[in-house]
Amino acid sequence: MNLRTNLQPIPFIDVAAQRRRLGPAVDAAVARVLNHCQFILGPEVGVFETELAAFCGARHVVSCASGTDALVLALRAMGIGASDAVLCPSFTFCATAEVAALVGATPVFVDVEAATFNIDAKGIAGSVAAAKDAGLKPKAIIPVDLFGLPADHAAIAAAAKAENLLVLDDAAQGFGGIYDNRRLGTFGHATATSFFPAKPFGCYGDGGAVITDDDALADVVRSLHVHGHGSNKYDNVRIGLASRLDTIQAAILSEKLKIFPEEIDARNAIARRYSEALGDIAIVPTVPAGSISVWAQYTIRIAGGRRDALAVALKSEGIPTGIYYPIPLHRQQAYKHFPVGKSGVAVSDRLAAEVISLPMHAYLDAATQDRIIDATRRALKK
Ligand SMILES: Cc1ncc(COP(=O)(O)O)c(C=O)c1O
Repeated sequence: MNLRTNLQPIPFIDVAAQRRRLGPAVDAAVARVLNHCQFILGPEVGVFETELAAFCGARHVVSCASGTDALVLALRAMGIGASDAVLCPSFTFCATAEVAALVGATPVFVDVEAATFNIDAKGIAGSVAAAKDAGLKPKAIIPVDLFGLPADHAAIAAAAKAENLLVLDDAAQGFGGIYDNRRLGTFGHATATSFFPAKPFGCYGDGGAVITDDDALADVVRSLHVHGHGSNKYDNVRIGLASRLDTIQAAILSEKLKIFPEEIDARNAIARRYSEALGDIAIVPTVPAGSISVWAQYTIRIAGGRRDALAVALKSEGIPTGIYYPIPLHRQQAYKHFPVGKSGVAVSDRLAAEVISLPMHAYLDAATQDRIIDATRRALKK
């Protein structure tokens, strides 16, 4: 008998473990909202926005209905629209490029660095040139803090300044992370984040936020997220949308924020353990000096076409894996007609063929992690 078939399946991300820890506190927070019945823009929303702004050291947080909406709201507030180009990586979740198209602009792809999975600032000039060749006005760039690791915001800011681009940081996966001793949320002109449940800082449904130090930009986002209101609800000064964070979700997020720093530490301890145990048989993630990742994913690289065999071997032992992302955006049906930078996107292609993510969450205990490490080592040594 194969004893391994009796092993309990391991969750990839264990949202239930956090739920068990926070149970009574979250239940009480939700009950408070159920009692006062202000389900839309109730008092918990403003309280949470203030807490989140303090957490990341930003002047303004405007919460909204999703991370995708946060990106759309920020682009709209920046005045991005038809005939504009918005630079973004090809190796990311589709929403990063989707939002450029949703506001009527054109996404133009920039390649990423193999070591960090994040946008390569050296490719920005080539993507600006490609945008101009296509008859577009390059207006903004959306770097992504992929898998939780902050992008190289200093290098991006310098290149963006040289090309006169606004910077909108997509911190959906990286919110909570630190770059150059500062939390994400204060890099670029605005930051967008997602509270999708599987994110490092997620709620129990959809949600997102725009974060900025720019008073005027924050005012426009605040107007846009409730139908473009002016001095009151029935004064409509711009075309907006209905994109609010539910009061119940805000109340839940306030409880989760209390334990988020501790969870970031736990994720980092787990990532260190993985890297120490697997560094000799796989390419493990690089964290540049001065950065702290929140490890939305713990992603290794397996060259030589053995990645899929590893996924199959782990699955047979009840260990799930994820491939983020198997097809880079410049090869996706909906995105392949958009321009790519002059130096190409070869690294994005390579990463799509090599990456594999292992289970990662703040409640992954050492025994379970040892099971994953042991199975990964055995599979890769075959
Ligand atoms: C990099 C990135 N950007 C944007 C989003 C969009 O967030 P949401 O699902 O909350 O719309 C996600 C997550 O889904 C993401 O991973």
